[in-house]
Amino acid sequence: MAGGVTGGSEATWSDRFEEGLHPFIEVFNASIGFDLTLLQEDLDGSIAHARMLARCGVINGEEADQLVQGLETIRTEAAQGRFQPGLEDEDVHFAVERRLIALLGAVGKKLHTGRSRNDQVGTDLRLWLRRRLDELDGDLDRLQHALLLQAQQHRNTLIPGYTHLQRAQPLCLAHHLLAYIEMIQRDRDRLRDVRGRVNVCPLGAAALAGTPVSIDRRMTASDLGFERIYLNSLDAVSDRDFCVEYSAAASLVMAHLSRLAEEVIVWASEEFGFVRLSDRCATGSSLMPQKKNPDVPELVRGKCGRVFGHVQALLTMIKGLPLAYNKDFQEDKEALFDAVRTTRDCVEAMAVLFEEGLYFRAERLEQAVERDFSNATDVADYLVSKGVPFREAYQLVGAVVRRCLERKCLLRDLSLSDWKDLHPAFESDLHAALAPRAVVAARTSEGGTGFVRVEEQLARWSDLLNGTA
Ligand code: ARG
Repeated sequence: MAGGVTGGSEATWSDRFEEGLHPFIEVFNASIGFDLTLLQEDLDGSIAHARMLARCGVINGEEADQLVQGLETIRTEAAQGRFQPGLEDEDVHFAVERRLIALLGAVGKKLHTGRSRNDQVGTDLRLWLRRRLDELDGDLDRLQHALLLQAQQHRNTLIPGYTHLQRAQPLCLAHHLLAYIEMIQRDRDRLRDVRGRVNVCPLGAAALAGTPVSIDRRMTASDLGFERIYLNSLDAVSDRDFCVEYSAAASLVMAHLSRLAEEVIVWASEEFGFVRLSDRCATGSSLMPQKKNPDVPELVRGKCGRVFGHVQALLTMIKGLPLAYNKDFQEDKEALFDAVRTTRDCVEAMAVLFEEGLYFRAERLEQAVERDFSNATDVADYLVSKGVPFREAYQLVGAVVRRCLERKCLLRDLSLSDWKDLHPAFESDLHAALAPRAVVAARTSEGGTGFVRVEEQLARWSDLLNGTA
């Protein structure tokens, strides 16, 4: 039985095959259930290939025009929901070719000249990921803008700073939010770097060894906006590093989002009370009428595992494979698609959360920084400014904190004479120096939380994100 891709569910490949696939194996083998995601890119790649074949004289101009028109017809049919390939098509590449042959007859059979599904699928996947990377960069930019807006609104708000989740030193809230903007910028830079290696064209490597057909690989590559072509045909069809690289870079995005999500969850608790969630981004309990739950950041935190897992799955998929193409590669798609979908959804969810899903309770934050010992380092620094060696000052302040704890009071409750008893260097300017706002303002080292430094960074990020830098 001849017919290959045109054969229907009893399809066989070439005349080499006498029997059709076992029905379960047909299902097991097919990727059409998920790789239709690549339809637009498959059409784009085929259009570029057809044009190149004509320019190289492999087919004539009229044939190329027909192929391009046929491919565009399939695009239209898909947009109208009329392109619905079945299992017998196996994958998106066969589905398109089959439909093209149905539309054009003999001319349709010329499209696959000088290429294989192996270089074709690699091209599609890279085109697809390149688009998604550009969209993701836009999503990350939106999240940075949302964080910057909050930071600008809270340039004078204080928040307790923690190490080990124990009160450490008070911070400017804008400084805390700017830290996430920095992290996200590293993610954007990393993803841009990944994009450079995604943007390399494998088309024309054919099955694994290149082709005797006189094609021009650089023509299709530049038509499709690729920066470079693979210079080794085996590497071209065997490389899935970019899938691992994307998932790894996306894992760091997810890790950053998850840390931010965790902070929001903690901040929204009754115990902290630093933020209130708006009704638009919080959910209730089916049982406890008083509850307002932070589902959005919890889901973001929970979805990390997917993306981390895809890195592992993709690495494992690659590791034992001999050159060149192996069907194992079909497994790259669901992992990559889900990694991309999950990352983009989570970035958008966090952007919405910071745009309109929460507000900081400035009064609670103000109270929070007033009632602790997070200005203890500043007493030590005060003594240092009066010439006392730091370690000596540190010991002394530790003893003072213990005494305050025994007396159930704060450092600021000690009188100047109490302080003078402890060390003669204390003077009347001490109390002002211990106020949380003064403590924050004093941290003027570069990159510190001092208001002047925070203003510098707010201006820098505003320039960078609004393209005025
Ligand atoms: N559906 C296949 C994949 O996703 C396309 C490439 C098939 N190539 C092959 N030699 N069987 O990888």
